[in-house]
Amino acid sequence: MESDTIISLQHVHKEFDGVTVVEDFNLDVKRGEFVTILGPSGCGKTTTLRMIAGFELPSTGKILLNGEDISLLPPYKRPVNTVFQHYALFPHLDVYDNVAFGLKMKKVPVQVKGKDGSLKTKMKRIPMKEIDERVTRALQIVDLEDMEDRDVNTLSGGQQQRVAIARAIVNEPQVLLLDEPLSALDHKMRKDMQLELKEMHKKLGITFIYVTHDQEEALTMSDTIVIMNDGIIQQAGTPEDIYNEPINAFVADFIGESNIYNGTMTRKLKCRFIGATWDVIDDFPVNEKVDVVIRPEDVIIGEPGNGNVDGKIASKLFQGVHYEYVVNVGKNEVICRDTKNREVGSKVSLSVEKENIQVMHKELSVNQYTDAWIDASGKLHIGEASFECDLGQLLPGAIVEDCRLTDPKSRLTYDLNDADVVAEVDLDKIDLSDDLSIGSDTGTIIASVWIGDHYRYIVRTEEEEDYVAVSPYSWNEGDQVSVTIKKEDIRLRLKSDIDTYKGKGE
Ligand SMILES: Nc1ncnc2c1ncn2[C@@H]1O[C@H](COP(=O)(O)OP(=O)(O)OP(=O)(O)O)[C@@H](O)[C@H]1O
Ligand SMILES: [Mg+2]
Repeated sequence: MESDTIISLQHVHKEFDGVTVVEDFNLDVKRGEFVTILGPSGCGKTTTLRMIAGFELPSTGKILLNGEDISLLPPYKRPVNTVFQHYALFPHLDVYDNVAFGLKMKKVPVQVKGKDGSLKTKMKRIPMKEIDERVTRALQIVDLEDMEDRDVNTLSGGQQQRVAIARAIVNEPQVLLLDEPLSALDHKMRKDMQLELKEMHKKLGITFIYVTHDQEEALTMSDTIVIMNDGIIQQAGTPEDIYNEPINAFVADFIGESNIYNGTMTRKLKCRFIGATWDVIDDFPVNEKVDVVIRPEDVIIGEPGNGNVDGKIASKLFQGVHYEYVVNVGKNEVICRDTKNREVGSKVSLSVEKENIQVMHKELSVNQYTDAWIDASGKLHIGEASFECDLGQLLPGAIVEDCRLTDPKSRLTYDLNDADVVAEVDLDKIDLSDDLSIGSDTGTIIASVWIGDHYRYIVRTEEEEDYVAVSPYSWNEGDQVSVTIKKEDIRLRLKSDIDTYKGKGE
């Protein structure tokens, strides 16, 4: 019986000169499926496609086609064709001959009777009649049957792209690989071609593996979307799954517009973020720090006091069908959509159905403090604690005096007193100690995990700020520790443009 899976990538790993560009890639593609690999520039999409086509070999791992290992098979022996981003048509041939070219060159094995009557396999050219039938069919599928005799130089971008696709499908591949085939087209033509490609996929009934960095394109066309970042699959699923149930903050941010907040689970199925407690349906341990994602269209705007939290409309943008509002809730911004016209500055309430609040594991690779700020003496405040920091990183070359930065070239001064910043500290740059008289902050160890050769601790302060630190030393949950961070280990980012602070206080 034929299996459902046509292509299977198993633990595929690719390095160039010792640099990993695709890491432990595992994917089963079903027969007839439209799979899209989506991700930012440089994440390894083309490299993955080139390995499927055979133009690159995996450093380790296997690629199976119909259950057989094809990892080492040369490209021309794979029943796979590729449409590249930069397709080159033959400028001196017309549409028909561009599509027929490959078939005219090709020799196929046929059985012939030798003089002694025995059957022999001979390589022969494809008969002209068959070429003609196949080219005509391919041109029908891409909707160019009336343009057979046209000079390719007189075609529009979209028509040229269709010739390139016809040239690939005329070989009757089992799998068609498409690497950003629409990226050279303008917006309108792209939209049209997206629908046409989807139609072609239906008519042909073969498997498409499509690469793009355009999330809208991926959502419209695919049966399955595979989201990649830094060579690693982040999530694979249907467009609906990925949009509604993003697995981490990267996916949520990459697909569609989202509000993303730091949250804390306060009780079972209760999560606290943007200064309010919300009912949620994802069950995480109490005290766990989480990422929370809410889509703008899921925020319900109401009269003040009638929702879960109150805020003030900071801006609005008419977008045709609806208005997009930014509502300030304390220091947080909530992007919302609503068809009703409301005044900027007016007070509103916000609520969200609990099914529409997506709670996700926080990735604990770095400590990030999004509510940090700078005081008049140039110190960084995280919760109630203050830390020495290097403000110079916000304007390289600047002279720093307390909270003021001066650009020696332009002589402009920036006053960062009270400026909101995002501060980041790596886990291994936080020092914990039993000596509570040292350091900038103190807290209680609320969680500890042994990770191979070190512990990872979560230290929570009375103000409910968390420091996640790694250490070879052992503490127990409930122990009090002090927290020290070196000035040079704190990375800062201003929340507003630095020009906002120009000349202030002079
Ligand atoms: N032949 C090569 N030698 C060395 N490095 C390479 C080679 N091919 C690709 N890379 C590197 O591998 C990484 C992934 O490249 P790839 O072309 O797969 O990205 P991509 O996701 O297709 O990006 P884009 O959206 O910009 O096309 C990049 O850092 C790239 O520079
Ligand atoms: Mg690419």
